[in-house]
Amino acid sequence: MAMNYSPLVMEHFTNPRNVGEIENADGVGEVGNAKCGDIMKIYLKIDDEIITDVKFKTFGCASAIATSSIATELIKGKPVSEALELTNKAVVEALGGLPAVKIHCSVLAEEAVKAAVKDYYDKNGIEYDAEMFKESSCDHCCHAE
Ligand code: FES
Repeated sequence: MAMNYSPLVMEHFTNPRNVGEIENADGVGEVGNAKCGDIMKIYLKIDDEIITDVKFKTFGCASAIATSSIATELIKGKPVSEALELTNKAVVEALGGLPAVKIHCSVLAEEAVKAAVKDYYDKNGIEYDAEMFKESSCDHCCHAE
């Protein structure tokens, strides 16, 4: 079935930004969706609370790759606190929309960024509010329990 993707989704899918991994990353987050089987991994380099570099590896659908790509662009050069505020809605908007059945792919991007920040906090003994890392609630989400 052909999906009706926005030009930006297609652009990020065919030419994804920041693909790869960072050796000795300060934070690494890996999340997966049990239902579709897609896996997303995000690596962060953080200096003085600023995300100086970010890379991703995604084994997934076109939307998962496009959302990972745009998410890395949205958080690169930003303070860690801003990355934590990245929502799947912001990711979808930045891509010019996603088909409803593909919204869950953007949730994966939000969660991967958050998981990487959490890893950074954990590794550095930085205290945080666990509430910030609760799973996103998304009507279209197909997370298996
Ligand atoms: Fe599962 Fe896209 S179909 S992340």
